[in-house]
Amino acid sequence: MSTTVQCEASGGIAILTLNRPDKLNAINYEMADTLLALMDILEADAAIGAVIITGSGDKAFSAGADIAEFSESVRRGPAVGVRDFVRRGQSMTARMEAFPKPIIAAVNGIAFGGGCEVTEAVHIALASERATFAKPEIKLGMPPTFGGTQRLSRLAGRKRALELLLTGETFGPARALEMGLVNKVVPHEELLPAARALASRILHHSPLAIASIIAAVTRGLNVSIAEGLLVESEQFGRMAPTNDLREGIDAWIARRPAVFQGT
Ligand code: COA
Repeated sequence: MSTTVQCEASGGIAILTLNRPDKLNAINYEMADTLLALMDILEADAAIGAVIITGSGDKAFSAGADIAEFSESVRRGPAVGVRDFVRRGQSMTARMEAFPKPIIAAVNGIAFGGGCEVTEAVHIALASERATFAKPEIKLGMPPTFGGTQRLSRLAGRKRALELLLTGETFGPARALEMGLVNKVVPHEELLPAARALASRILHHSPLAIASIIAAVTRGLNVSIAEGLLVESEQFGRMAPTNDLREGIDAWIARRPAVFQGT
């Protein structure tokens, strides 16, 4: 498989490292396709319960979509630009958003453009004190294309998102935290250990319940509350006949730790 993303797994956690450090881990088509292929593999792998995404090198998480590459597609006309660049990037972030196992971004440096959009799309994000963020697409004369006009406004509110989208200005981890773009800011050296520790806390629980909660929140966020409550009922209906729900309740009654099998 392509070297644009490294994948290593231990203790039920897969770490995906965006790996084009000489290009600040810019997301080219190969990297997006590799991420999509790896997510298919990791979804099917019962030994993997959570995923961490980070960037290689000491500078960047990702400086966004590969400008040199996508500009070629754009030059070939709108249809090619939308097909090869926009839809591919949107598929990648949508897959992350709806992935049935928790994805945690460990934002280790520059997270501009597509790097910021990945941070928006994943379930939980931790930022190093060295992380910097920006929505710089406007400087290229274009709107963001990997969901960046949609998810930030849902996360941070319309006015805060529009200020960042319309100025393209860089902001630091404290602002990202205040806006709800990241969950926590940690010292740089503690970033990966903190992401692992967080993933491990989640992994104690039933993988079926985890998937169910991710699905209910992700689907429910973009519909009315009445429809969202239907999604919630449906998710509970799926969990009700499972061994994991029975085990969770039996363990609580017996005052013993639950052991979930994912069945
Ligand atoms: N696409 C393609 N290549 C990129 C890239 C991107 N988004 N971001 C950085 N690179 C490449 C640079 O071309 C350079 O490669 P080169 O040495 O072969 O020319 C290398 O990564 C290092 O980048 P450089 O610009 O020299 O680093 P810097 O520290 O001076 O600046 C940034 C860092 C992030 C401010 C700057 O790289 C930048 O503005 N990148 C584009 C950010 C962006 O607009 N992203 C949204 C795209 S839609």
